[in-house]
Amino acid sequence: MRVEDLPKAELHVHLEGTLEADHLLELARRHDVAMPWRTVEEVRAAYAFSDLQSFLDVFFVGCRVLRERRDFADLAHRYLTRAAADGVVRAEVFFGPQTFLALGVPLADQLEGIFEGFDRARAETGIDAALITSAQRHRPEADALAMLDAVMPWAERIVGFGLGSTELGNPPSGFARYFATVRDRGFHATAHAGEEGGPDYVREALDVGAERIDHGVRSVEDPDLVRLLAAQRVPLTVCPLSNLRLGVVPDLAAHPVRALVDAGVLVTVNSDDPSYFRGYVGDNYRALADEAGFGDEELTALAADSLRACWR
Ligand code: HPA
Ligand code: ZN
Repeated sequence: MRVEDLPKAELHVHLEGTLEADHLLELARRHDVAMPWRTVEEVRAAYAFSDLQSFLDVFFVGCRVLRERRDFADLAHRYLTRAAADGVVRAEVFFGPQTFLALGVPLADQLEGIFEGFDRARAETGIDAALITSAQRHRPEADALAMLDAVMPWAERIVGFGLGSTELGNPPSGFARYFATVRDRGFHATAHAGEEGGPDYVREALDVGAERIDHGVRSVEDPDLVRLLAAQRVPLTVCPLSNLRLGVVPDLAAHPVRALVDAGVLVTVNSDDPSYFRGYVGDNYRALADEAGFGDEELTALAADSLRACWR
């Protein structure tokens, strides 16, 4: 079986995390942005992480080269073209405007660039894409609320709102007003939780109104929570290679995905930041087959569940 032949949705991918090393260097040269690396090999050598923060530190350096509308359009178009080749028919793509607002890039250039890339990819491949605007939990909740207001002119193309960045010390309960406003305005809500934070973070995310949980793998430490997730069919957007590269799991044979699937939790397979973690969504499915014992029928079921978990 070819993983690419399974129609699937990708529900956990950060647009900024799809920036490939060659594109990063090309943009750094074009915009004369100083980077700590000169060659593709040097960039790739920097992609060795010990935990989430060590990754985020490099990820935010890469973000500095995205300056113009065209950069965002090309990035979105390249990612979606690559995803379509992996059999992705629907992509719900995270993007964090706060990074670029802090760098002085106008919101209209960011978002209209991304939507231009979405439209070009759809015309060429048929792939359907929607944006999930993501707030950063290392910044105050007031900033998340301001971002939420600022993107309202583009509300029609935004399917939902998320919460990302440094998890430990920044629990979902600190963003209760943000999520309440998101839901009041009729948007979907999701939150990163249970990646480095414990099951209590997942419970808090559900309490503030998250409909999906991004990662959520540490839920496995709380059997009552696993039963709740299974009973309520709360999708977990799991990213196996991300968890491996950030040391969330020692190897894929030990990944909680097996226990979660066996417990009846609705698990989806995703790439998170494919350039940084050396694997697109198809690579993540293949890694589950090669290293975690997932057979063809199970991969087929995971792809079908990704289409059940999507917001369309
Ligand atoms: N966790 C939190 N924030 C992120 C991630 C992640 O895996 N990827 C990009 N931002
Ligand atoms: Zn993520």
